[in-house]
Amino acid sequence: MNSPEQLLGETPFVSYVYSYPHKTTYRPLEPARPLHDVWQHECRESLFLYLHVPFCEFRCGFCNLFTLANAATDWTGRYVDQIRREAEQVRDALPDACFTRLAIGGGTPTFLDVGQLAALLQVVTGVMGAGPQQIPVSIEASPATATEEKLALLREFGVDRLSLGVQTFDERVSRNLGRPQKTCDVERTIATVRALNFPVLNLDLIYGGEGQTLEDWLSSVRTAIEYRPEELYLYPLYVRALTGLGSKHRAWGDERVIMYRKAQELLLSSGYEQVSLRMFRTRQAPQDEGPVYCCQSDGMIGLGPGARSYCSELHYSTEYAVGRSGVAAILSDYLTRQETEFSSARYGFQLDDEERQRRHLILSLLQAAGLQRSDYVARFGRDVLDDFPQLRELISAGLATEDECLRLTTAGLEWSDAIGPWLYSSRAQGLMETYTWH
Ligand SMILES: C[S@@+](CC[C@H](N)C(=O)[O-])C[C@H]1O[C@@H](n2cnc3c(N)ncnc32)[C@H](O)[C@@H]1O
Ligand code: SF4
Repeated sequence: MNSPEQLLGETPFVSYVYSYPHKTTYRPLEPARPLHDVWQHECRESLFLYLHVPFCEFRCGFCNLFTLANAATDWTGRYVDQIRREAEQVRDALPDACFTRLAIGGGTPTFLDVGQLAALLQVVTGVMGAGPQQIPVSIEASPATATEEKLALLREFGVDRLSLGVQTFDERVSRNLGRPQKTCDVERTIATVRALNFPVLNLDLIYGGEGQTLEDWLSSVRTAIEYRPEELYLYPLYVRALTGLGSKHRAWGDERVIMYRKAQELLLSSGYEQVSLRMFRTRQAPQDEGPVYCCQSDGMIGLGPGARSYCSELHYSTEYAVGRSGVAAILSDYLTRQETEFSSARYGFQLDDEERQRRHLILSLLQAAGLQRSDYVARFGRDVLDDFPQLRELISAGLATEDECLRLTTAGLEWSDAIGPWLYSSRAQGLMETYTWH
């Protein structure tokens, strides 16, 4: 019987799998694929609409998201105008699309001024025809940019879930993370979100920063719990190429594992349940009452560079970059595009049956609720253990249970960030290895 280390490698912290396949598997599509053709045979009754806002007040030392700090002053306004043009082209290609989920992320959507934010929300309703009062709507915000005026606008629009990047309540730890944040801004913004009665407040925290002791970490978790956020995301710090912290060559011991376990213990004993390695939710949190949407199989339309779109046979987006010059070049290209250029997909990854099965497996297994084998049979006509015999190794290493529901054990959940990449196809792995970061 293998131990997790023998099976998966030395550390549980390999890479954050928030979707599959990873965007570094995307390549130019030749020829480009008209959106009308791409979506023609897809179910369009239950789609996720995602709008990306690639601007921030500063570039945090740990962050490799597609975003730009200190953009030219006219770029944000031009961006909102251009996303409207993109939306119009997409809507023309999918006139009957019905959206059952909406998320606005970034970057920092609340970096936009209040007029630009209102114009962006108008694209959602006026162009895309989504009904924010009837569907779950989520938005990301940073403490200093989320003013009372913007938050009130968002609440009135129908935002149900406000996700706030906090990372830490300790200004010294924040500085070490390369994030010049004031704790008084965090406190003020949380108070405003509560006063405006957003049904779900999520707080993001990071553990494993330079100079952050276990006690520093638990103190931030305890402070967060005092606010009783409906959700908490605990992110293990990853230091990635081309980020501010990337040049520091940080070596890791098992600090992050200990910090994870202690925080998990604290949250479970404080009335939270664990949804995945990173996500915790209060038992009283409002349950999702929106129309049914299944992230393993339903489609997504992403607007803006950095946003991904998913249908069953193709995942696509614009090109991706982390470094400032690469992000600025992609954004500048986006801002000067002709309308017609938005009507086709030019960069992406084609999924065959095997990749669709892997996607279903990975996205389900990495959730604490696990994978219902009957759902897999209903979708693919076979048992998941026959399609992926390597799962038996997880079971024999004590990382997953073998029942009607294939579920990660406590140790398995801790090793999620290693199990995900271990399940990637060799095709996806090969593409990721040959991707050039810029
Ligand atoms: C879009 S941001 C949240 C909203 C807003 N931009 C902010 O930072 O306040 C997404 C979250 O991803 C997490 N994150 C990004 N890069 C990370 C990294 N390298 N290691 C750990 N967490 C990271 C942070 O917790 C961050 O809050
Ligand atoms: S963590 Fe948030 S504020 Fe910081 S650079 Fe990334 S997206 Fe921007």
